[in-house]
Amino acid sequence: MPSICKNKVPISPCAENTINPIRALVDNLVVRPNPDKQLLRLSIGDPSVFGNFNPPPQLFKAVSDNLQTSCYGYGPAHGLEPVRAAIATFYNTDSSPITSEDVYVTSGCSDALRIAIDVLGSDKRNILLPKPGFSLYQTICGNRGIEGRFYDLLPHNDWAIDLEDLESKIDNNTAAILVTNPSNPCGSAFSVKHQLDIIKLADKHNIPIIADEIYKDMVFDGESKSFGELSVNVPVISCGGLAKRWLVPGWRVGWLIVHDKHERLSEVRDGITRLCQVIIGSNMLVQGAIPQILETVPQSFYDDTLARLKKAADIFYSKLSKIPQLRPTMPQGAMYMMVEIKVDQFHDVNDDMEFVEKLISEQSVFPLPANIFGMPNYIRLVLTAPEEIITEACSRISEFCSAHSVSPPNKKSRS
Ligand SMILES: Cc1ncc(COP(=O)(O)O)c(C=O)c1O
Repeated sequence: MPSICKNKVPISPCAENTINPIRALVDNLVVRPNPDKQLLRLSIGDPSVFGNFNPPPQLFKAVSDNLQTSCYGYGPAHGLEPVRAAIATFYNTDSSPITSEDVYVTSGCSDALRIAIDVLGSDKRNILLPKPGFSLYQTICGNRGIEGRFYDLLPHNDWAIDLEDLESKIDNNTAAILVTNPSNPCGSAFSVKHQLDIIKLADKHNIPIIADEIYKDMVFDGESKSFGELSVNVPVISCGGLAKRWLVPGWRVGWLIVHDKHERLSEVRDGITRLCQVIIGSNMLVQGAIPQILETVPQSFYDDTLARLKKAADIFYSKLSKIPQLRPTMPQGAMYMMVEIKVDQFHDVNDDMEFVEKLISEQSVFPLPANIFGMPNYIRLVLTAPEEIITEACSRISEFCSAHSVSPPNKKSRS
């Protein structure tokens, strides 16, 4: 009888090097919330969580209509032609005309980012990533052996890119500069001037831009321009999708738009097509509904979503600004707010992780510790919670800060 080998089967380096800090934290958190208080989850950027940010009826109608007519076989790996054409029409601008040939449909924006990083990066090259930034970029780079090299965003300058720092990180092996605008986790939106400065720098060093524009047009005030629209010389691969603006993250449809005014990306386009063939694109049912979605959703839906996110930001900002141990940054877009924790003003909170753990166990409020985005001593809050939850969360955060302050009110009164 053959002997049975009882050694554990090892995992591959690829699996071992695949780390998504958000999932790791959220799925493995062992702190128990205070059983006397309802848990307020302000951690996950999924607008469907609270039931107050719902997709418009036109989305359900479009998918339902498509269910009657849709082909249920495999589609083209990079997306159906009418779908790519509809996305091209939606994002076409005079300064950067795009056609269906420039659009690739993917399985969510995450898949678009994976393809953009895969098509430009390699184990001998680096990609410049924002800090703080959406942690998936490093997850993708990490398991491919691509160096994710971080450049700083400036917390006291509305999270603009520190251009000097960015330039200092560029070398001959820099394959791309990845930018997120509007930003998760910062809730910031760059001015057009700042976008042009970034493009100028990329042009000077002849480096393409990967623009994560999943929050495109989710800007509270002022202009919203894509990097592709603004760039003349620098090739831009823009990544987007339905998840955020249309409030359907679970539908898993995204896209990649290539802006390439000087036709420098012919090989890259071929590479993107090959990479799309790995999983044969996004599901046919939802992608087939995209032309109807983009045509029928009224502007009032987009405006209303933004107005409500802005109102949430205003409430958070005005309430948290009054807490001496915190310094919130007023968001300009997307669906997040970053808040600095002044750790020197707490007697027993030493960092963002401890802040969050204690806040959950005492007050049942769950923000994300921003060290998972590369920004220690900040927390990230989501703006999609209903007003009453935001108000309640702020009052519990205030109580928590005052209880842990270096000079709690009861101590003060004794002295
Ligand atoms: C900045 C950013 N990019 C990409 C994604 C992923 O989008 P999707 O759900 O379409 O994969 C997210 C999701 O939270 C995000 O915040």
